Formats: sequence, C-alpha cells, structure tokens
Amino acid sequence: MAIKRVRAHHLAQMKADGTPITMLTSYDAITTRIFDEIGTDMLLVGDSYANVMLGFDSTTSVGIDEMVVATGAVARNAKRAFVVADLPFGSYETSHEDAVANAVKLIKAGASAVKLEGGVRMAETIRAIVNAGINVVAHIGYTPQSENALGGPRVQGRGDAAEQIRQDARAVQDAGAIAVVLELVPAPIATDITRELTIPTIGIGAGEHTDGQVLVWTDMAGMSDWQPSFVKVFGEVGMALKNAAQAYNDAVRSRSFPDSDHRFNQ
Ligand code: KIV
Repeated sequence: MAIKRVRAHHLAQMKADGTPITMLTSYDAITTRIFDEIGTDMLLVGDSYANVMLGFDSTTSVGIDEMVVATGAVARNAKRAFVVADLPFGSYETSHEDAVANAVKLIKAGASAVKLEGGVRMAETIRAIVNAGINVVAHIGYTPQSENALGGPRVQGRGDAAEQIRQDARAVQDAGAIAVVLELVPAPIATDITRELTIPTIGIGAGEHTDGQVLVWTDMAGMSDWQPSFVKVFGEVGMALKNAAQAYNDAVRSRSFPDSDHRFNQ
C-alpha cells in the first residue's frame, strides 16, 4: 500500500522489508516540494544549512532560531516525507533541559523528529528527548559538529576504534532513537551495525549495505564547487541554472527580453 505520510513505523517496516530508505537534505520550500513530490522518504533539515545556504565555513555557526525558520519552510511543504531537523551545535550539549526545550522548538516548527550528534556520550540526552515524546535520529561516526576535536572530515572507526562505533550504535538504539545516521564509517562496520540494530541505519560515506542513504542535495545535484569522493553527482543542476541565468542576462542586455510574447497586457 502506498504510504500517504511517512512515519517512524514506516521506516521500521522498510528496514524489516529490506526496502531502501531515501533521504536528502532540504532547507527551503522550493526544493522540498520537488523532493517530496518524487517520493523521497526522509528530508533532513541538516545543519549543513550553515555551509550550503548561509555561506559559513562550519555547521557550528548556525543557531536554533535559524534552524526553526528552515524547518518551518520544509515542514510546510512536505506532504509525504518524514522531516528530520538537526539540533544545532550548542543547543543540546549544555543540559537535558536545553536539549528538550530546543527539540520542542523544532517539533513546533513542524519536524517529525530531531537529529543530534553523538553515541554513548549523548545516550542520556537522547533518552531525555524521547521521554518528552519526541522522535530522535542519532548521528554517529564522523560528526561534523565536532570537526575540530576530530581533526576534520575523516573516516571513523578504523582498527580498534571500530568497537567504539559499535557501542555508539547500540547505545543510541537502547536510548530510544528511531534511526541512526552513520557518517564516514568503513563499509564492513556499517554493514555489521545494520545487521545488528533493529532501527534503520542511514549511511553517508558508509558503503552500500545500510538501510538507507542520505546526501546533501546540492552535492548530488552538481551545485557544489567540491564534493567528497563518496558523493555521486546525479545531475548538473548548477550548470543548468548558470546557463539559464546567462541566457537571461544576455537577453536583457540585447533587449530581446521582454518580447511580444512576454509582456504584461495592459
Ligand atoms: O547536516 C547535514 O547535512 C547532515 C548530513 C551530512 C547527514 O547531518
């Protein structure tokens, strides 16, 4: 049966059925309508909003008020997709009270779940948010909000560190997370974790055997100057937009636009 609106139990069912879960980031009304209409299962209002849309160097620069605005734009325009909103850096580490209060803001803006970064170290925070009746998606492996502590984007869980990633995965599931993002985790470890957990795993740079995949939409659409090696560009949207804007500029400069077919009839 076609899903009218994706809910947490549908994601669990998709894992059980072996149906791959699709997730893309989205930060505004226009892209949300497009991704939602084509049936993308999950939309992530990621804190990558900071880099992608606001032009900051780091995800840590975005705050809860900006995330609330972006979440509202996405949630108002997603008819089917399950909307996940990132709790930004500094909005949940300080206390369980802050974490719950900020998660409530994102849910009031229309999110179906909040996402936060961290495994074992964040398990009690996840539990507190879940106890407030809020769905939590966890994010482990490479966690961009800790980029300074982790020494920049790099694969996590190689060698002895694999056990830490496994413990993180178990801890977030035990704390009540409904799904977990695995970022830059070696594929064999992501595969083992996917087999072991009962909640869906969503991979980014974590191989092909996770229950779902997520990409930053501007990366997969060819809108970024640079993308990591695990990203596939599925369309040259950046080039198409450049060409359209160039054609518009040329037409205005040559006075071939507006023309007789494109005039407001007075
Ligand atoms: O903010 C984001 O875009 C993310 C994805 C990289 C998973 O967290």
